[in-house]
Amino acid sequence: MRTLFIAGNWKLNPAGADAAADLAEKVKAGVGQETRVHVAVCPPSVFLHRVDTVLDGSPVTLGAQNMHWEAKGAYTGELAGAMLLDTGCTHVILGHSERRHGMGETDAMVNRKVKAALEVGLIPIVCIGETLEEREAGKTLDVLATQLEGSLADLPAEKVAGLVLAYEPVWAIGTGKVATPEQAQEAHAFIRKTLADRFGEATARRVVVQYGGSVKPDNARELLACPDIDGALVGGASLAAEDFLGIIRAGLEVTAAGKS
Ligand code: PGA
Repeated sequence: MRTLFIAGNWKLNPAGADAAADLAEKVKAGVGQETRVHVAVCPPSVFLHRVDTVLDGSPVTLGAQNMHWEAKGAYTGELAGAMLLDTGCTHVILGHSERRHGMGETDAMVNRKVKAALEVGLIPIVCIGETLEEREAGKTLDVLATQLEGSLADLPAEKVAGLVLAYEPVWAIGTGKVATPEQAQEAHAFIRKTLADRFGEATARRVVVQYGGSVKPDNARELLACPDIDGALVGGASLAAEDFLGIIRAGLEVTAAGKS
């Protein structure tokens, strides 16, 4: 049984540390001591320490949005995994499409980051997903297979079992165009099968695969109810505590309804 995992990717928001602390306070208050759904927030790195302080005593965990693969050295502007761990992070988003497409991140770079994160004990949330052009050309599953293969290259099954993946169709991110539950489930089932072929059934069953792309309180329930969707990576809707908590409530309902 995989516990649903709902993570808020705050991206380049909010504008200041007080607003970040306020949002984290509201998420903390709404979640209380509930652990039947795992919740995380991923603020900009400069707010990690402040948000970690706010989350003290809460089951809500903390993630970063990116890191470098090197541990130290002459890499101006970069952050190392150990630094993120030191601010209280347990997770780090890697290979988000806004980094792949906006900043030229390749599968090989994502793979180095995944290895470096695991090395220091951070859990990577590895993002994969096709563009609209690729979907319309019928290449969705090929793209997912290539990104999986490249991002997870050289990793042993026991490491892969502890990873989180996020299927985020690029055309659904920030557009309000959510994938249908059928489209999302098809991609998730394919990801699970690809993992099973490559790393074995037992590993594939353990990997948490989130869906991301315009998840809102009103579409979360039917997405989270799909058998191979194990949570959500939420962008825009994670910036309003009520919306984010609405998605968490949908996850709790799905869990209470006996999803396995
Ligand atoms: P969105 O972003 O929910 O705003 O579509 C999701 C993501 O990029 O992780």
